[in-house]
Amino acid sequence: IMESLNEAKRIAARRAIDEHVEDNSVIGIGSGSTIVFAVTRLAERVKSEKLNVICVPTSFQARQLIIENKLCLGDLETHPELDCTVDGADEVDRDLTLIKGGGGCLTQEKIVASCAKKLVIIADYTKKSERLGDQYKKGIPIEVIPIAYVPVSIKIREHFGGNVTLRMAKMKAGPLVTDNGNFILDWNFPTDKNLDWPSVNETITMIPGVVETGLFVGMTSKVYFGLPDGSVKTTE
Ligand code: A5P
Repeated sequence: IMESLNEAKRIAARRAIDEHVEDNSVIGIGSGSTIVFAVTRLAERVKSEKLNVICVPTSFQARQLIIENKLCLGDLETHPELDCTVDGADEVDRDLTLIKGGGGCLTQEKIVASCAKKLVIIADYTKKSERLGDQYKKGIPIEVIPIAYVPVSIKIREHFGGNVTLRMAKMKAGPLVTDNGNFILDWNFPTDKNLDWPSVNETITMIPGVVETGLFVGMTSKVYFGLPDGSVKTTE
């Protein structure tokens, strides 16, 4: 299973990099386990085709990947306009609305994606679903300013229902701290309510203390799904 998942990630990543990266371009580099395959492929192409590509990271992890693979590191200060961002996702629904932030990097991912002409998503077949929540069971990640985590949790629960939990760190006691020094709430939203994601996203974003949500609405240009049979299924 693990092998087939990794193979699915690899082929999706390869196709996306081959179809969307051109010479003299600025590319946003997403976070997570799938993006590792994309960066590997990008480094291969940059070397063999002698491409001039500047990579803008979406996390500390992405920054390290760029450096380790000897790619050219850029940032939004020097490169506020990107040609393309390539990133993973936790779930993709039929409208190409995404849940992101399983790895805790949603805020920088959304900022970088918002600066790119297109957002290209790479994913294995387990991420594809009709409706959000069908596949990904951990809820929607929301980055919050630490002092606000209880009031924000209460407001989300009162407004929409469901359950909100503070994400805890794995190897230390206490909450997970993001690259931006904030906390992550995971909102297990009710699945029987047919929530309207654009308005949910807007409402939650307006709560004081919320930095960003892991809902990516209307941002995705194209998705590459790696399938178990070794093929890649793309949207549009
Ligand atoms: C990181 O915070 C996330 O948004 C990732 O993009 C997402 O979790 C996908 O990660 P995997 O490629 O590891 O599934």
